[in-house]
Amino acid sequence: MDRADALASFPLDSWTGPFPAQTQRNALAALEVGKVIVLPNLAFGLEASEKKFLSPTISGDGRKNISLDPKTREISNAKLTGEDAAALAAMIDRFGRSADQLLRALFPSYAPRLERARTSYRPTEIAGRVYSPRKDDTRLHVDAFPSRPSNGQRILRFFANIADDGAPRHWRVGEPFPTFAKKFVPRIKGPAPGSAWLMSRLGITKGERSAYDHYMLNLHDLGKLDADYQTKADKLDVNFNAGSVWFCFTDQVLHAALSGHAALEQTFYLPVEAMTNPSAAPLRVLETLTGRTLA
Ligand code: SIN
Ligand code: FE
Repeated sequence: MDRADALASFPLDSWTGPFPAQTQRNALAALEVGKVIVLPNLAFGLEASEKKFLSPTISGDGRKNISLDPKTREISNAKLTGEDAAALAAMIDRFGRSADQLLRALFPSYAPRLERARTSYRPTEIAGRVYSPRKDDTRLHVDAFPSRPSNGQRILRFFANIADDGAPRHWRVGEPFPTFAKKFVPRIKGPAPGSAWLMSRLGITKGERSAYDHYMLNLHDLGKLDADYQTKADKLDVNFNAGSVWFCFTDQVLHAALSGHAALEQTFYLPVEAMTNPSAAPLRVLETLTGRTLA
């Protein structure tokens, strides 16, 4: 199948709206069906004093992301101290608040249930990094967090390319989630009895992993580890330009990030019930495929 319809582009140029009702409906439908929403005319602007943070040397050794906890506004993993650390935290937080504001204005029906989670800054070049296959995000995957069970909640991620040298962020977008899931679900064994309780007791997970999380983590790993799938599955190469933003449900959209530097990312959680078309949620797709209640 042709993946040319994997993206939906909207010419918005405001972070705050208000947005026309038709734009809201079209963007919501495209997002929920599993497209990447691209806003090519919406740049996240840096202050002149923030340009120095574009240097990849500001992140701690061997770590790719600097992350901000929106509750405490503390950053982890930056090699900065004092005023510089505070200024970087302020930049990352401003991006997170802008993304939050935009999504609430564009999707008023999500607003009461949308949860802003961590914000990250990714200053280092992706191409040329070496990771174990499971951690290698240059391979197509859906996002699933090993230590934070989602219990079926959606993962929505919002990105901005803030590179000042024009470098695009090069992604691949894979096939629709149901097509992917149908191939891999038959290979997944159910969770071992008692394992969710044990992992929670040992502090490996924050709370017990649901059957849904078990399936999603297996989909993430099996997909990445299947070299044949990686080369042969339908996919579309996409360049997200410097000075643009994009977002999608990364638990649903098969994605891989191949090259680029200087991206900001804001993670959101959303309950499945807050969706207009919940039947497209991975939870509902997997429940249909397995014939079980998973979360
Ligand atoms: C990913 O979520 O796999 C990485 C996306 C990115 O950093 O562009
Ligand atoms: Fe990912």
